[in-house]
Amino acid sequence: MEFATKTIHAGQPSEPETGSLIAPIFQTSTYEQDSPGHDKGFNYSRTNNPTRQRLETVLAELEGVHQAALFASGLAAENAVLQAYLRPGDEIVISLDVYGGTYRILNKVFQPLGVKVTQLDASDLAGLEKAVSERTRMVWIETPTNPRLLVYDIAAICKIAHAQGALVVVDNTFATPYFQQPFELGADIVVHSVTKYLAGHSDTIQGAALAKDPGGPERIAALACDTDGIDGTEDNAGAIVYPNTIARAEARGIAIKEAMAANDAYGFFAALGDLVMTGPTLTNVNDFRAILVLAA
Ligand SMILES: Cc1ncc(COP(=O)(O)O)c(C=O)c1O
Repeated sequence: MEFATKTIHAGQPSEPETGSLIAPIFQTSTYEQDSPGHDKGFNYSRTNNPTRQRLETVLAELEGVHQAALFASGLAAENAVLQAYLRPGDEIVISLDVYGGTYRILNKVFQPLGVKVTQLDASDLAGLEKAVSERTRMVWIETPTNPRLLVYDIAAICKIAHAQGALVVVDNTFATPYFQQPFELGADIVVHSVTKYLAGHSDTIQGAALAKDPGGPERIAALACDTDGIDGTEDNAGAIVYPNTIARAEARGIAIKEAMAANDAYGFFAALGDLVMTGPTLTNVNDFRAILVLAA
């Protein structure tokens, strides 16, 4: 299946009872059980919900792993990953340029709990090799970065981290699985602010965490259940169809870039207008720059 086809078909059968092609919004907290302890796969919506499950299946398929866990925001997904894997005394190495919320949660929440946070230039591979040690539990990068759109070498960073037994987390928010497949490059965990390009229309706040290790997503999803942080089912239903906008944005981004190279002001504004009308809503300058850079 091509990417665009997966976004609308992977894990999304028509609804068996009515044949509805679009995922129904299962607005329920609790599910009937056949007998005590024997449910039909769903028990309580904090743990699992059919609408959320569909979106998790699509995301897992797009990133090439078995399971994804959906959260109320990108930061809630990050929090779950950090809680699932870090313990007092562990070290996490993060890149110099990293989303402000990631920097804050690590320095304001996890550092006081005894996690050592080391920040360094992840493009300096020799420096990274020196800094990563047996004590390093996790190396966390985002690429391209927010805000500076720096690009890091995922495969090289994974090699260095894995040599010391550290996990590599890639925040794939800006690239999306359409442009970048971190698991293929060696990453162990991927997180997303679904709020951005995966949803594409600036109308929802959601996050996701995915892991290569088959037990990983369960471990992360268990935290969604145990500490909450789950998102609303209406949001899940919307986001299922939106990833198609990424492909459209790419085409418009390329058209913008070509118009810029040719000094074609009309072409530039025509493609930009088209992008604004039909692509992801451009919420800020970074979004626009990201599209340009990704198209480069
Ligand atoms: C790269 C990146 N990761 C994570 C987040 C956090 O996502 P959310 O705002 O959905 O919590 C953001 C938000 O801007 C982001 O840009």
